[in-house]
Amino acid sequence: MAEFKKADGFIDWLDQRLAVRTLTKVLMTEYWIPKNINWLWAMGVVLVILFTLLVVSGIFLLMYYKPDIKLAFDSVNLTIMNEVEFGWLWRHIHAVSASLVFLIIYIHMLVAIYYGSYKRGREMIWITGMLLFVLFSAEAFSGYMLPWGQMSFWAAKVITDLFSKIPFIGPDLVVWIRGNFIPADATLTRFFMLHVFLLPLIIMIMIVVHFYSLRIPHVNNQDGEDLDFDREVEKYKNGKKAESKIVAFWPDFLSKDIFVICVFMILVFYLVCFNYNFAMDPINFDPADTLKTPAHIYPEWYFLWSYEILRGFYMSESLGLIFFGIAQVIFFLMPLLDRSPVVAPAHKRPMFLVWFFILIADLIVLTIFGKLPPEGINNYVGFVAAIVFIILIVVLPIITKIEKNYYCNGGIK
Ligand code: HEM
Repeated sequence: MAEFKKADGFIDWLDQRLAVRTLTKVLMTEYWIPKNINWLWAMGVVLVILFTLLVVSGIFLLMYYKPDIKLAFDSVNLTIMNEVEFGWLWRHIHAVSASLVFLIIYIHMLVAIYYGSYKRGREMIWITGMLLFVLFSAEAFSGYMLPWGQMSFWAAKVITDLFSKIPFIGPDLVVWIRGNFIPADATLTRFFMLHVFLLPLIIMIMIVVHFYSLRIPHVNNQDGEDLDFDREVEKYKNGKKAESKIVAFWPDFLSKDIFVICVFMILVFYLVCFNYNFAMDPINFDPADTLKTPAHIYPEWYFLWSYEILRGFYMSESLGLIFFGIAQVIFFLMPLLDRSPVVAPAHKRPMFLVWFFILIADLIVLTIFGKLPPEGINNYVGFVAAIVFIILIVVLPIITKIEKNYYCNGGIK
């Protein structure tokens, strides 16, 4: 049986029962971060803040939302937006944060790609990150359905229809997912459950796993330097903080992050109060009508790049579907596709740098054309951009293999 002494304060009392001092050491004061990083490394913590905003605003919306196809539209557009005091504010916070969370996730991912932060023991950080991306995509898709507007219904129909193309089980699978032959009340209630309970729960667990997976390989740094953490920690603890190449997560790293968060919050609340329309589709302000297909159906901006890969192969639906499926999961394989052991920023890896900028340009083109109607020249541009995406995936192992050979011959320092 553990021995309990008379505590000399509340913290000591807690420490004897819950080891809170060890916990703060492990999670905060002895969680080591390299000094050599820039503000882009604050994106992870910004994502935590955005997720918190989504949960808090979601809880307020949940108090008035009604998951029933006859009531859902009015509960959002009438009750929450017009009748509940500050209901509009919580809805705008929720919608704007949902859009921004994807912007920051994409930045966070691209930063990791630029600096090669998915290599040298960081594979699990990358994989748990990608799982978070997939979970957030499912969370956004299920949330989009809840107001039961025109886009909610038709986007749900188009996306669930995709499963019908799976050989043998496809058509039955679609009915199973929807709980009906078309998106209906059973579809709304099950997606409601996923959106407000199961997916947020799994996301929270996955965020903890993502953080935990950083613990052993540590956060990367701007030069990809392989730091000797034991030596640097010793210097830090011996008072040679200026000389040491690392800082503690708290108070050093987080205090800088808090500054980035404050600046970011100015942007968030500017958008929430004055420019919220970008996060809400005007077509979704019409109630769902199963007999009136909108002239042009498209997803939210953050799904447009992969949606355009699906549409790009306008001459063959099955090809489009195959490459759409590949696009959803291909980034999981980054640690495998990049054959080079070099952990360095892309500006020190010339061929990779070119690859990286073509990837960004291609994602932007796919996103822009994903929103335009699939007609005339748009079809051709979408097709070429989809092909470029596939070529990029195929050439990555080749150029990184060349880089590896060059590196092994002492080329890159
Ligand atoms: C809501 C979701 C996410 C949260 C809350 C989150 C949080 C964090 C935090 C706090 C860090 C450490 C500091 C930093 O580098 O920013 C981090 C690092 C990292 N995250 Fe995420 N992340 C999320 C999504 C993702 C996604 C989608 C990916 C990519 C697939 C990803 C990949 C990484 C990688 C590779 C690192 C290590 C960066 C480095 O070593 O320099 N994360 N994440």
